[in-house]
Amino acid sequence: AFVTLRQLLDHAAERGYGVPAFNINNMEQLLAIMQAAAKTKSPVILQASRGARAYAGDLMLRAMVEAAAATWPDIPVCLHLDHGDRPATCLSAIQHGFTSVMMDGSLREDGKTPADYDYNVAVTAKVTELAHAVGVSVEGELGCLGSLESGTGEQEDGHGAEGALSREQLLTDPAQARDFVARTGVDALAVAIGTSHGAYKFTREPSGDILAMEVVRAIHALLPNTHLVMHGSSSVPQDLQDIFNAHGGRMPQTWGVPVAEIQEGIRHGVRKINIDTDCRIAMAGQLRRVAQEKPGEFDPRAFMKPAMAALTALCARRFEEFGTAGQA
Ligand code: G3H
Ligand code: 13P
Ligand code: NA
Ligand code: ZN
Repeated sequence: AFVTLRQLLDHAAERGYGVPAFNINNMEQLLAIMQAAAKTKSPVILQASRGARAYAGDLMLRAMVEAAAATWPDIPVCLHLDHGDRPATCLSAIQHGFTSVMMDGSLREDGKTPADYDYNVAVTAKVTELAHAVGVSVEGELGCLGSLESGTGEQEDGHGAEGALSREQLLTDPAQARDFVARTGVDALAVAIGTSHGAYKFTREPSGDILAMEVVRAIHALLPNTHLVMHGSSSVPQDLQDIFNAHGGRMPQTWGVPVAEIQEGIRHGVRKINIDTDCRIAMAGQLRRVAQEKPGEFDPRAFMKPAMAALTALCARRFEEFGTAGQA
């Protein structure tokens, strides 16, 4: 059944678990994630970016997710817009049946420049007012997630790049978070705590203090009823990198967010954990393997089936690790 993000995360908060939000843009990803959710009896957040919407089309995305919800009627399903860049993007998602939208006003409409605080408040409050009027949830974002990966995408502390921002400038300010939630009414808040999007988050194995968990704890203390969201939360598992590289791939050694850090976040108010990169590597590794091991193969299903199995295994593992398993 379709649910809003608010319904899903209120339940997660009551019971103290987290929910992974997996990105989808095609049927195979959707089926693989749903199979993992069904197997582990987990509620699921399926999120589509602007790129996913352009790739598959809104009608196709909504119809596919409807079919998935009908196929697995016992699994609560939230269809969420990932990184809406302006109010119009959020409203068109709502028109197409998304039950939750992210208005990412932390960046200007170019998707690159960090936005003024007042701009972020204004666009997010506008989306929240309209979305709530039709029963749709809203996620906002405060802080500079992307700046941590400025330049090469490998900056891990913001100090390496020319003109890099300070730690205080990058991370979400707890007092500002309280003001932001009061003025916008968002259901969930994405916080900047040292994660970044993509495969190249850290250039060495992260140690215990790699993420600003103190910021999570401080925000959760001020905003106990706001569900916190961690973006850029792929762990980039070594075994998936190895499979990818063993079959002709070239991915330089990299490290992601340790699952233990996410679990620490879940103990302090993190309820939604965004994962896309791990899903991509899991599938792409198997596509590479089949291409290399079976050079005569040309049935797409022979490529897709192992890719889906790898994605299902990854998602099932995250449902177990985040405590989502058994909560559907
Ligand atoms: O944060 C972005 C997500 O990983 C989606 O990526 O815009 O390439 O679909 P995308
Ligand atoms: P990853 O690139 O770490 O998977 O993050 C995805 C994300 O934050 C989507 O919004
Ligand atoms: Na941001
Ligand atoms: Zn993100």
